[in-house]
Amino acid sequence: LRPIHRLLSSPGTVAADTRREEQSLGIAETGSEDRTPKKRFSEVQKERREQAQRTVLILCPNKISEKKFLKYLSQHGPINNHFFFESFGLYAVVEFCQKESVASLQSVTRLSVGTEAVIPFRSRFFNLKLKNPPSQTSEQSCIPCSNQSSPSSKKLFELLCNAESVDDQLNTLLKEFQLTEENTKLRYLTCSLIEDIAAAYFPYCEIRPFGSSVNGFGKLGCDLDMLLDLDEIGKSSAHKTSGNFLMEFQVKNVASERIATQKILSVIGECLDHFGPGCVGVQKILNARCPLVRFSHQASGFQCDLTANNRIALKSSELLYIYSALDSRVRALVFSIRCWARAHSLTSSIPGAWITNFSLTMMVIFFLQRRSPPVLPTLDYLRTLADAEDKCIIEGHNCTFICDLNRIKPSENTETLELLLKEFFEYFGNFAFNKNSINIRQGREQNKPESSPLHIQNPFETSLNISKNVSQSQLQKFVDLARESAWILHQEDKDHPSPSSNQPWGLAALLLPSVANSMSHAKKKKKKPANERVKNLLESIKSSSTENSTNTSGK
Ligand code: GTP
Ligand code: MG
Repeated sequence: LRPIHRLLSSPGTVAADTRREEQSLGIAETGSEDRTPKKRFSEVQKERREQAQRTVLILCPNKISEKKFLKYLSQHGPINNHFFFESFGLYAVVEFCQKESVASLQSVTRLSVGTEAVIPFRSRFFNLKLKNPPSQTSEQSCIPCSNQSSPSSKKLFELLCNAESVDDQLNTLLKEFQLTEENTKLRYLTCSLIEDIAAAYFPYCEIRPFGSSVNGFGKLGCDLDMLLDLDEIGKSSAHKTSGNFLMEFQVKNVASERIATQKILSVIGECLDHFGPGCVGVQKILNARCPLVRFSHQASGFQCDLTANNRIALKSSELLYIYSALDSRVRALVFSIRCWARAHSLTSSIPGAWITNFSLTMMVIFFLQRRSPPVLPTLDYLRTLADAEDKCIIEGHNCTFICDLNRIKPSENTETLELLLKEFFEYFGNFAFNKNSINIRQGREQNKPESSPLHIQNPFETSLNISKNVSQSQLQKFVDLARESAWILHQEDKDHPSPSSNQPWGLAALLLPSVANSMSHAKKKKKKPANERVKNLLESIKSSSTENSTNTSGK
């Protein structure tokens, strides 16, 4: 294995650049196994954070010459990278090579003057004004904008119907929906801009992204989960204290960690609301199990959820990052299942009795651990590979697992995505949800410790169920749709529909709302017989497919 720093400093071809970008996003190439060393989660976070600190966000006039714009900014130092995007105006993200360039640009920037009063704040979010409006002819250049949104359903259907195979369909969906390099940069930049505001109260605080923005399963348009990390404040740089003296900061004490978190988030929420450039619709949701401040960052278009004191969630993101990067099939499968669930309203952006994307991801990981041979290792196995520096205990919970994913042996499983998709639906179409719990730590079903309809053990806080919110009827809807989808894929196998026919096929057929409609229609009319029919069909498929796989591959 070549050391990572060698890889990074080698002169880049376009392909190598793309590979590097994919690496730093935690994206393994799909289709073929990528054997280049993959970065640790902490390395990616550190690099991206440092990159964001050298970056500024600029609202530009619509008609602007890119060349002159870059020349103007280069007065403050060399520019490493830039792109434009549209969101209620034309915005530029400009990454300087050095952090000092940002300070230099800020030193020549004035506070906006207008009819309204302003609250002074020297942020890294600027307005660019033209001293003289351009003449119609001179500044007409059209600026290429980076796309920040996922494709429309129409475009997605077209792409899926034109794919060559079901495997190709899953990989296409992944390619179209995954976060782009620019979108990832914008996410880290937004965190960094919010950090500047929070730092007014808490110098040395850090705002870190977590959840799907960083765990490899983020889809264009997903929310931006942020964590306010105050741990750096408590760290002292001096290692030893001399003599018999020990210095402590005077601090205010409160009754519990939860109250401290609520108080901190409350002031940060006020601060974002009153002084945060581009922060709108600030809501403080402090009585939730995990208190948070929700707001929209208007310029980037991100819906942001800011939490504090939530280190376990960051560790969960790291674990999912590892699973997403271990095998190229994982992300393709998770994206398709999430998309399938969204298409059938199994998931929703409104909180409620629905399955969440996080739970669905856990279900896919669990399913992949159950294959023979497994596609993914169990969390317990990842713990056995950990060394001393990986040790991590948070609030008494053992969150230890290996952080260097290059030391995890690749899977010997060679099943196609098409087979895995079909088997996923069959597996959960027949899962004994009434008695069993899903547990990625051990990678096998456990008896349910409590009576919630769906029980998915929280991998680190093992007494908790991450899907406690899911109602029996939502679980039943999931099971019905999983059975129906397995059945559709099985029928296609038998009928061999040609990709050239105009009918939606494979994954496209599974995303059609008519599947859900026909199910609820059938349910209204004669619920039991329809369910039983599909179940019987599945059982017959199962026995024949077991025979087939024994015959063909000996698995
Ligand atoms: P999106 O739907 O794409 O936003 O996926 P997400 O993984 O970011 O989910 P979400 O924004 O709902 O939550 C962000 C992170 O919080 C998740 O990735 C988990 O790490 C954590 N999280 C979410 N829900 C739960 C839960 O019910 N229990 C626990 N322990 N953690 C959760
Ligand atoms: Mg999220």
